[in-house]
Amino acid sequence: MSVAPVTSGPDKPGTFAELRQQLAGLLEGERNGVANCANTAALIYHALPGLNWAGFYFLRDDELVLGPFQGKTACVRIPLGRGVCGTAAARRETVVVPDVHAFPGHIACDADSRSEIVVPLIRGGRLLGVLDLDSPRPDRFDQDDARGLETLVAQLLEASDLECPATSTS
Ligand code: SME
Repeated sequence: MSVAPVTSGPDKPGTFAELRQQLAGLLEGERNGVANCANTAALIYHALPGLNWAGFYFLRDDELVLGPFQGKTACVRIPLGRGVCGTAAARRETVVVPDVHAFPGHIACDADSRSEIVVPLIRGGRLLGVLDLDSPRPDRFDQDDARGLETLVAQLLEASDLECPATSTS
């Protein structure tokens, strides 16, 4: 399935509105959580400019475990509170890191990464995991990206059955 490229530029809210439309098409008629996360990661990775990694970690016990992603191979398990992902999960809020080298405890999966944004997946007050985006550009992500990605995550959670993969013990 092809994904129409989304142009970059100053109109980030417009870009994310376009992405929401494309995501709605991908999610229609399918509630499998892993499949929907996989397509969401692919959509974001190929549509947003300047990314070198986009994907999910799911909460299993007190760790984040690697889920569907696009980009180079990544570390599999991240304890809550560790790195950017574990910090966003522990705080239950989006974390924007303009310079990963200046973030204490940053976990370098890809040495090219210079900036990062992590959005927690929360449904009904329960933490299910995180969405993580990396960029080789410093200061790639801003508050428009945060709000835009949060709306995509809300759309994904609404359309998907994610309880089982997020809470099973293996
Ligand atoms: N940099 C992340 C680890 C995950 S990779 O970037 C895919 C972190 O510090 O949590």
